[in-house]
Amino acid sequence: MNTTLKSLMLTLAMLTAHAACADDPAVERGRYLVKIGGCNDCHTPGYAQSGGKVPEAQWLSGVPLGFNGPWGTSYASNLRLSAQNITSAEQWLAYARAPRRPPMPWFGLRDMSDADLKAIYAYLRSAGPAGSAMPAALPPGKTPTTPYIVFVPQEPAKFAASR
Ligand code: HEC
Repeated sequence: MNTTLKSLMLTLAMLTAHAACADDPAVERGRYLVKIGGCNDCHTPGYAQSGGKVPEAQWLSGVPLGFNGPWGTSYASNLRLSAQNITSAEQWLAYARAPRRPPMPWFGLRDMSDADLKAIYAYLRSAGPAGSAMPAALPPGKTPTTPYIVFVPQEPAKFAASR
């Protein structure tokens, strides 16, 4: 192989590597969106409790605390692993916009621009895999074997009477 061809291939390899690297503006935008979009509140262990003082290496790696309500039990999944299983940004758009169980605010992702959703994907891909898979969701009536929070609206009689 001649030197010109070799250096051309090297340049191409560097350009490809750059597409997913951390100083990519899309990655930076994705980091910003997950930070201000509240994703860490549910998907990162200890984030809300520590006021956001969790090392970025652990961001969005899932929380095995069940959210139990009329929908059954859901778990804030490991987004770092989910993004690894989705190999194109187009596939991610459809995946991220699908309806989900509460309390996932999925309508926020549905209404997000393609560019912003793709930035979140770029961020998750560049962060790479971390942690393990969260427990599968349970249907209503099944008791979780993990710790869980029960979402049951309480209505004291004095409020009920005033309706
Ligand atoms: C109030 C808690 C909460 C917040 C805030 C939240 N999520 Fe979720 N998310 C969940 C739960 C719980 C599930 C699992 C839903 C289910 O089982 O259907 C989930 C599921 C998902 C899924 C689909 C499952 C998967 O693993 O890929 C995606 C994608 C996702 N969330 C992305 C986000 C992003 C991006 C943000 C921030 C913009 C966010 N979530 C904010 C609780 C939350």
